[in-house]
Amino acid sequence: MSELTTVTKQLHTVADYCRYGATLFNQAELFYGHGSDNAFNDAYILVMYALSLPNDIDDSIMTCRLIEQEKLNVLALFTRRVEEQIPVGYITNIAYFAQLPFYVDERVLIPRSPIGELIENQFFPYIAANRAPKRILDLCTGSGCIAIACASYFGEAEVDAVDLSVEALNVAQINIENHGLCEQVIPIQSDIFSGVEGQSYDLIVSNPPYVDQKDMDSLPSEYHHEPEIGLGCGDDGLDIVRVILAQSAKHLNEGGLLFCEVGNSEVHVRALYKDVPFTWLNFERGGHGVFMLTKAQLVEFSVIFTAALTSLNQ
Ligand SMILES: C[S@@+](CC[C@H](N)C(=O)[O-])C[C@H]1O[C@@H](n2cnc3c(N)ncnc32)[C@H](O)[C@@H]1O
Repeated sequence: MSELTTVTKQLHTVADYCRYGATLFNQAELFYGHGSDNAFNDAYILVMYALSLPNDIDDSIMTCRLIEQEKLNVLALFTRRVEEQIPVGYITNIAYFAQLPFYVDERVLIPRSPIGELIENQFFPYIAANRAPKRILDLCTGSGCIAIACASYFGEAEVDAVDLSVEALNVAQINIENHGLCEQVIPIQSDIFSGVEGQSYDLIVSNPPYVDQKDMDSLPSEYHHEPEIGLGCGDDGLDIVRVILAQSAKHLNEGGLLFCEVGNSEVHVRALYKDVPFTWLNFERGGHGVFMLTKAQLVEFSVIFTAALTSLNQ
């Protein structure tokens, strides 16, 4: 009797397969950093995907039994997760961000930014309910998740979604169409601000590449499925953040705000810009390394931001 047949003869229910997958994943010491943070959750998502069922189905599903072919389909997905160490989002081609579904593949990072929580809360308390932004820029849009979520939570806003990667923009376009937002979200190929010269916004939101070289050198293998252009960004991870800080002021309207994620490179931002009073955000659902600056602050500290950029280019 083959190993697979042994498994399918002994395990029957959804719960059985979720438990079995979790055990396999723990034994393989997989890494969870792509929207799910534990082995059982990864196994559950793969089981639901194999059964063509939604993730938020009633718990009574756990005692339902699988037919033989369904069991084999689930086991094939488990094998991919373990042997290729591929994140679940690239197996299912779906990721959720700000409670919305997005198509993803290896042309874009799997959405996981804590900025999603901020968007769901319409940037409360930084943006007053009666001051909804009319023009929004999502810098480094990838799958388009931030741009599309902003357009969904601020229904009246026009959103520009820029990325250097044409491949990423093709994925963003799929998501813009899937969400029926072709009139509201405009994908633009742009090297940071180069494609939006002369444009200004009420809100700039960015999750740029920011991983420093030390972290790049020790990335778990799951991250090697993601495009490198979306992760690494120079020795201290701040090559693009330096440009964002030096150039955002001229792209923001009066009263405008910049929100930017820098993850673990928060430590480098604090060291490089010691005299700048960044507002570092807290998140109920976890995550760190996201700051906010007002246009007035970007103008006030522009000499520091310009000097940090100039020193990088010398
Ligand atoms: C960390 S990913 C973020 C994707 C998406 N915003 C998200 O939160 O999932 C960074 C994105 O920046 C893009 N990027 C890298 N360098 C860029 C540049 N110079 N100008 C514009 N976008 C760039 C990458 O192609 C990638 O899609």
